[in-house]
This record gives sequence, structure tokens and C-alpha cells, in this order.
Amino acid sequence: MRLSDCHNVEDLRRLAKKRLPWPVFDYIDGAADDEITKVRNSAAYADCDLVPDVLAGVAEIDPAVTIMGRRSALPLILSPTALQRIFHWHGERAVAQAAAKFGLWFGISSLATVSIEEIAALVPTPKMFQFYYHKDRGLNRSMIERCKAANFDAIALTVDTIVSGKRERCARSGFTSPPRFTPSSILSYAAKPRWALDYLFREKFSLPNLDTHVREGTGEAISIANYFNSMLDTSLDWKMAEQLREEWSGKFCLKGIMSAADARRAVEIGADAIMVSNHGGRQLDGSRAPFDQLREIVDCVGGEIEIICDGGIRRGTHILKALASGASCAAGGRLYLYALAAAGQPGVERAIGLLKDEIERGMRLMGVTSIGQLNDDHLRWRR
Ligand code: LAC
Repeated sequence: MRLSDCHNVEDLRRLAKKRLPWPVFDYIDGAADDEITKVRNSAAYADCDLVPDVLAGVAEIDPAVTIMGRRSALPLILSPTALQRIFHWHGERAVAQAAAKFGLWFGISSLATVSIEEIAALVPTPKMFQFYYHKDRGLNRSMIERCKAANFDAIALTVDTIVSGKRERCARSGFTSPPRFTPSSILSYAAKPRWALDYLFREKFSLPNLDTHVREGTGEAISIANYFNSMLDTSLDWKMAEQLREEWSGKFCLKGIMSAADARRAVEIGADAIMVSNHGGRQLDGSRAPFDQLREIVDCVGGEIEIICDGGIRRGTHILKALASGASCAAGGRLYLYALAAAGQPGVERAIGLLKDEIERGMRLMGVTSIGQLNDDHLRWRR
């Protein structure tokens, strides 16, 4: 199977599975507990049908949207995700450059493997920094200062990861950051020599936005669950979020809002956007899917704050459904991570290219020439 044989996100997932040691694949693909929420995140889109308009004159269409003050050529954000160097040695650089090529917003995580400064210098495209609120206040200050100095466009405060979800695939595989080659896992790495050689002989793994303050994750191998449970501040509350909002003068987003009441509080503390998200089903299993919950949130705060529907997106039509339901745009992590793991930057470009094509075809078949024309009338719910 080659990259050119991949015609959708699921194909890219299959290729990633072939190329990655299974503990690494399972870190990306896995979710919490029974993984019910992860499955529902995508399945939710199938419970709602599109109703197209025809004879609309769709020779010229424009799929662009404006998100947090900056234009995005497609209504899609490449959500911030951690540890990308482990999936492919191109890491965050590949994702940033692919996003720039297509004119999209993207994000990097606090647990990124490329520095804030390098990413900022690499591409002019709009970018967000996914902020994990640490117990170490010096580290929190340092991340904010670095994002300010590097002119990041937005901070997305993670609000759904006060402790780690129970990721059983990772517990079984012993996956850590950096990866640790234990007697029980060494075979899985040796079975993928191309990955292993790239991992061992390319640039050394590090978490340059954290390692100025903490050893864990870079100098000291740790599971992501242990990292979150020992390093993050469980006392994080609305007051602290509001303080962070004040400290950070740029665009501010809360990533992981699921209830309408919390969406209202996000408006009250002056957030510019919310990502309706359950962290790809990796945190609270049994949590509702973002698309299922979108309508309630749009009814409550639509027009007062930008609403980004993050999770489960595998098709251009999923994005169109989210937009017709009132989202300002859609976002996703695995949809480009499988591609990164499968083939580095060309893989990410292929994933975005396939989704762009699906969005544009979908718009034409729906009879809309701009994203703003999509609305509730284009949707019917089965249940
Ligand atoms: C995860 C974090 C790092 O879900 O975002 O693994």
C-alpha cells in the first residue's frame, strides 16, 4: 500500500498502522476506557442527513472562513496534538508546512517536539498553542511569554484534561515519552526498522516547550497518563482561566467545552472561541460527541463566540454537517496524524488535499457557493 493508494482518512489510518510500531499506533488510535466516545464522535455524523439544493450555479465556490480574525482557506483547523516527532521524524514541521501550503489554521501542543520559536519562524499561517495548565507556575509563565514573543495567534487552554483519561491500550503497551525500549516492547519496534532507524538516527527527541522547566517527558521517560496526573494543576478553575485570558492579550480559546452552561461562562470570561471537544474520546469515555452536542451550544451562545466542532471528522461532508449545524468551523487531530505517521509531510498534504476535494465537491452537490450559506434547512435528523 502506497500513499497514492490512500483515498480517504481511513486508508491513511491503515497505512499508518502498517508503518508504526504498535505501541505508537495505539497511542494515536486509542482512546479512554471502552473507546465508546471515540467511536460515537464519528458515528454521530451518520445520524443526520444532508438535504441538497440544486440548480444553484456552483461554478465559483469559496470554502474559506475567518476564524479568530484570520482567514482559513478551508473551514478546518488542524487541531494541536502532542509528540509528533514520535509518529514521523518530520513531526510538527510537516504539519505546519502542510497547513501553510493550504492556508489553514493549525496548532501545536505544549507537548510539541518542535519549539514555539521554530514553528513561528517556519510558517506565516495562523497558529494556536495548546496550553496545558501546569502546577509549575514558572513553566506556565514561560509558555505564555514565548508565545507572545513569537506572535502566536491564539492560545487554546485545555479544559478537558484535569487528569488523564484511562487509556488502556497505552497501559498494555507501556508507551512512554520518550519511547522506552523495554524487553517486552523491543520486538514491536524492531519489526518496523524504517521507523526505528528514523527514530534513533534523526534529530533527537525532545519537548522543547517544557524541558526548560521539567525533565519528565524528555530526560525521563514517563507515560502520558503519569505526566498529566503528576504535572497538571487539578485546581484549575474559571477564575484561573480568566486570569490566563487576561495575561494573554491575543485570541483565547477554551478547548474541551461540552456543556451549554460552560459555553456561556466562556463568553463571560471573554474567550474568543470554544472548541467543542472531548479530546478525541481520550479523556471521559461516555462523554457526548461534539456533533451531537453542537446544536445545544449553538442555541445558547451562537453569534457571541466562535464555535469550533472538534472530533470524529473523517469526511468533507462531516465538516459540512457541522457548519450547517452552526459551527464556525471544524477541527481534527487524528485526521492528519494518521497521514503524518504514514508518510510525513506528503502524507499530511494528501490528507488535507482529500478533505479539500471532499469539501468542495460537497459544497457543489449541496448547491452552496460559500460556507455561510449552509444552514439548518440543509439537515434532517433521523432520530
Ligand atoms: C493526549 C494528549 C497529549 O491526548 O493530548 O495524549
